[in-house]
Amino acid sequence: MKMIFPGFESPESAAPAPAWGGTLRSIAARDLDAVAALEVLCNTQPWSREALKTCVATEGRIANVAEREGKVIGYAVASNVADEGEILILGIHPDARRQGAGRALLTGVLADLAQAGASSVFLEVRYRNAAAIALYNALGFGEAGVRKGYYADTGEDAVLMHVFLNRGKKA
Ligand SMILES: CC(C)(COP(=O)(O)OP(=O)(O)OC[C@H]1O[C@@H](n2cnc3c(N)ncnc32)[C@H](O)[C@@H]1OP(=O)(O)O)[C@@H](O)C(=O)NCCC(=O)NCCS
Repeated sequence: MKMIFPGFESPESAAPAPAWGGTLRSIAARDLDAVAALEVLCNTQPWSREALKTCVATEGRIANVAEREGKVIGYAVASNVADEGEILILGIHPDARRQGAGRALLTGVLADLAQAGASSVFLEVRYRNAAAIALYNALGFGEAGVRKGYYADTGEDAVLMHVFLNRGKKA
């Protein structure tokens, strides 16, 4: 398998990733309106603009956007505490899905987490969110548990998922 960046090895890195045709960069203050609008489209319990603003200003946060043709089409926010990362939110505009942007964004965030010292990354995902679970599986996450009734709006369970980073490194 090919290392795609230090500290994180995608299990599918041998397969060519789809060319989604955009760029990734850190979030900027000017992106907050666009990201808040995307959150409404992507998340049934969306973070507000203020919550996003506070979160990305917090130490240890990694917040990136995916941009194509001058438009923000995706976002991901993660936290890193000591050597443990957590994916907090991730979304791609509905019109831009299945074009590789989610994979690119998540791969980039995992690289940033590895660089920040994370050796392990967790996330929670709705039990019925097959698209997100498929993406996480494609990037090496496995199921680490179930949180019963985790989501307040529907009472749905959360699947706790986990991946080790640094798998390509020799001990
Ligand atoms: C989950 C989400 C971020 C995926 O983004 P995306 O840009 O469509 O994903 P990609 O095109 O990069 O797909 C990468 C891989 O993920 C899997 N995948 C993504 N969407 C899928 C779907 N609808 N069904 C099955 N597999 C899917 C596939 O393995 C895919 O690889 P492939 O296209 O070569 O088969 C997007 O669907 C989304 O924004 N959903 C709403 C918000 C959300 O659920 N966020 C996660 C909360 S935990």
